[in-house]
Amino acid sequence: MKVLVTGGTGFIGSHTCVELINNGHDVIIVDNLSNSSREVLNRIAKITGSIPKFYKDDLLDNEALDSIFEENKIDSVIHFAGYKAVGESVEKPLMYYQNNVIATLNLLDKMVKYNVKRLVFSSSATVYGDPDMVPIVETSRLQPTNPYGNTKLVIEDILRDVAYADHQWQIALLRYFNPIGAHSSGLIGETPNGIPNNLLPYIAQVATGKREELRVWGNDYPTIDGTGVRDYIHVVDLAVGHLKALKYIDNHPGIEAFNLGRGVGYSVLQVVQAFEKATGQKIPYQIMDRRPGDIATCFADTKKAKDLLNFEAIYDIEQMCSDLWNFYKNNPEGIKE
Ligand code: UFG
Repeated sequence: MKVLVTGGTGFIGSHTCVELINNGHDVIIVDNLSNSSREVLNRIAKITGSIPKFYKDDLLDNEALDSIFEENKIDSVIHFAGYKAVGESVEKPLMYYQNNVIATLNLLDKMVKYNVKRLVFSSSATVYGDPDMVPIVETSRLQPTNPYGNTKLVIEDILRDVAYADHQWQIALLRYFNPIGAHSSGLIGETPNGIPNNLLPYIAQVATGKREELRVWGNDYPTIDGTGVRDYIHVVDLAVGHLKALKYIDNHPGIEAFNLGRGVGYSVLQVVQAFEKATGQKIPYQIMDRRPGDIATCFADTKKAKDLLNFEAIYDIEQMCSDLWNFYKNNPEGIKE
């Protein structure tokens, strides 16, 4: 299958391209490289033996999108491209709506124009906001608590309307929990710019000596040890989930949302412990006040993905930590040109 992957040089995108290529798909990447590097393409080639066709373009550029669809007989699209920093979205909401929602509308317009109606969309557990109960099922109330989450929900709503209006569409909405880890080769992984917001990249930078200590945002939540509980999933498992979703939509017209998580919650301190055990690195930390907007506990009900997609995450938290550490050791400054 010829698959257009938007945001294909990013963290989840690059791992998904590897799985697609390894499973015989023809991959075309479009990415504006705003938060990734061209070198990722060489890394993908090193892992798979094949370099994907690449367009350095922005989804807001209509002419560029026309060329991509005209030059390639695309069967399906996996849409990752978008901004993803919660805090930044609070400060710059218009930038988020523009880059996430308008860009997606452009992409959908072209998909209609070129009659490509198979889509896997990169959504997020953030659409659930502060959940009424855990584990979170796909039918839970959708109530994001920040502009980033709102853009994901708006796009989900647009796609539901599109699928309702035209029954030829085949769409999967994948709601990711907390993707971490890296490819076992240590060649691709996550390289955030500046000070990392997310827990694992921050821990890794403490381990490399780049940051002094981890700041643990609150230990007074109603959880096992008072620190926040999340559902961490290995990025390679997540990538495999996209292949399973592609396969599923191939013979299921309409639209379905799926949680992609492990269904297991780990507290911040449990993650620190797992990282120390997996890597032998000591992670000093200090308990701080709660981070505004954080919730106590979030983990997935994974039954729907298991039943319909035949998807189950296989890597445990220690494997996630050791793969992440392997990547960081090999790429202390991230993936540069
Ligand atoms: N944490 C710390 N110190 C840090 C960073 C994080 O203690 O330096 C804690 C947080 O308070 C939280 C846990 O580690 O309890 C995980 O935090 P992350 O920032 O790694 O992840 P979040 O669950 O807050 O956010 C993630 C994604 C978002 C997405 C959200 C909901 O990064 O994009 O899940 O799905 F919106």
